[in-house]
Amino acid sequence: MHVPIDLRSDTVTRPGNAMREAMMRAEVGDDVYEDDPSVNVLQQKAAEITGKEAALFTASGTMSNAIALKTHVRPGEEVLLDSEAHSMIYELGMPATLALALTRQFQSVQGIPDVRQIAGSFHQESLHTPRTSLLVLENTHNRAGGAIIPLEIHRTLYELAHAHGAAVHLDGARIFNASVATGIPVCEFARYTDTITFCLSKGLGCPVGSLLCGSAQWIKQARRNRKMLGGGMRQVGFLAAAGLYALEHNIARLKEDHQRIRTLAEAVAQMKGIQPDSAAPPTNILYCTTETSAEALCTRLQAEYGILCNAMSANRVRFVAHIDIDDDDIMHTIKALQELC
Ligand SMILES: Cc1ncc(COP(=O)(O)O)c(C=O)c1O
Repeated sequence: MHVPIDLRSDTVTRPGNAMREAMMRAEVGDDVYEDDPSVNVLQQKAAEITGKEAALFTASGTMSNAIALKTHVRPGEEVLLDSEAHSMIYELGMPATLALALTRQFQSVQGIPDVRQIAGSFHQESLHTPRTSLLVLENTHNRAGGAIIPLEIHRTLYELAHAHGAAVHLDGARIFNASVATGIPVCEFARYTDTITFCLSKGLGCPVGSLLCGSAQWIKQARRNRKMLGGGMRQVGFLAAAGLYALEHNIARLKEDHQRIRTLAEAVAQMKGIQPDSAAPPTNILYCTTETSAEALCTRLQAEYGILCNAMSANRVRFVAHIDIDDDDIMHTIKALQELC
């Protein structure tokens, strides 16, 4: 069992010994000169995995999304975004402040975009209207409990966006969770995107980093925008080596995270003072509604049981499984919730 049992997010993981050794052994160079061999191999691997021509190593998922919007959208153009998307809620107004974009929000149903609503949302440029130049999707969907957008919906939305002259960017921070849960390769999801980003520092267990993937021409421009945002890093191969290690060793095991969060959800479904959004969460994230204060529950879980989780609102809590959570941690959490709820 881990102390504390940290179920706040899959971003809280610490690199294990094998990953640290891979980092220690990394060959490095100045990545602004594109001279870092480890970064170059990682970018090539990311491009292969996503089926894109090129990839760019970035500091974070937030930075990847900022670069993506800045590269796709001219100032004043529209971006279609889920009202619950990470880029809408948690990136500090990035579409407005960095990309200078107008956002038009759509409502998804449990994380799944409503195709008809989106179909009616594109604007062509005219004397009166800015053009809609980008549709952003999120798979898996963080605030919708790790929901997976089905491949068919990706295909439909991609064709729809292109028919309206708009590009598609996928925030695939957790696309490997979607891939492992469905058995659909990442490149199939990526096929229906112009650009995709995925995170190394979530389920894959790395300390830092995301990859932004797209056409060679687009990535060239994205590299300029990364530099402008201060994301041109130098001997960053130490971090790329962690990513290479994770892509080799930490993907298939995501199914264990999914199984553990499902075990927790099934147990919570039997309790009285707390209800899971789903007794069968699709991936590694579980949201629950509490009858009493979520904040108070989290405080007691931490103080009395050494369990960390996030109160997302007055009566919503979130639990996230990851590489540093084992079966005993889940059993201990179930016991604690049985006693408190
Ligand atoms: C869906 C999604 N996109 C982007 C991000 C941002 O990633 P980072 O924390 O690396 O900036 C997150 C972080 O949790 C996320 O859940």
